[in-house]
Amino acid sequence: MFTIWLTGLSGAGKTTLSALLAEELCRKGYKLELLDGDQLRGGISRDLGYGKEDRIKQVQRVGYLCELLNKHGVVTIVSLISPYRDSREVLRTKIKHFVEVYMKCPLETLLGRDPKGLYKKALAGEIKSFTGISDPYEEPLRPEITVFSDQETPHQGCEKVLQRLLELELID
Ligand code: PPS
Ligand code: MG
Repeated sequence: MFTIWLTGLSGAGKTTLSALLAEELCRKGYKLELLDGDQLRGGISRDLGYGKEDRIKQVQRVGYLCELLNKHGVVTIVSLISPYRDSREVLRTKIKHFVEVYMKCPLETLLGRDPKGLYKKALAGEIKSFTGISDPYEEPLRPEITVFSDQETPHQGCEKVLQRLLELELID
C-alpha cells in the first residue's frame, strides 16, 4: 500500500485534489483513508499550534498514522501544508511507498482566491506565523509529482497523479 502526500500552501488545492483522488481510487476498489491537516487539527491534533515544533509534530503524527494504515492494506491520502522539507524527507525513510505531490501555486493567485479569508487576515497581521506570508514554506526538491494548480484543473491534477501511480506500479 502507499501514501499520497499533498504538500503546498494554504489554498493551493490540496483538499480538493485529495477528495478527487479518493473518489477515483475508491472506484478502483482501494480501501483508503483521507487525512486532512485542517480537519485533524479539530481532532487528534487539537493540541497543536502553528509554530515550527508543532508543525513538525503534526507531520510526524500523520506520518505514523500512514505507516499503520498502509501496513494494514489501507491507502492514505494526506493533505497537509507540511512546510518543512526535512520533516517530509524523514517520511520517505519510514513509509515504504511515499508519493509526494507538490501543489504549486503562485502567491498572487492564492491571495486572489483566499477562500477562507486567511491571507487577508495574515496580511493585516491578525494571524501570526501564516505560511507563505510570515512563516516559511520549503518547496520539495524532487517531488514525485508537481501539480501547477493555477494552470491545471483539479481533474487534470488527479489524472496526473493517477498516471504517475501507474508508472510507479502502485496501481493497475
Ligand atoms: S501544517 O503546517 O502542516 O502543520 O499545517 P496543516 O496541519 O495542514 O494546517 C493548515 C490549515 O490550518 C489553517 N491555518 C493555517 N495554515 C497555515 N498557517 C497558519 N498560521 C494557519 N492558521 C490556520 C488553514 O486553514 C490550513 O488549511 P489549508 O487547507 O492548507 O488551507
Ligand atoms: Mg485544505
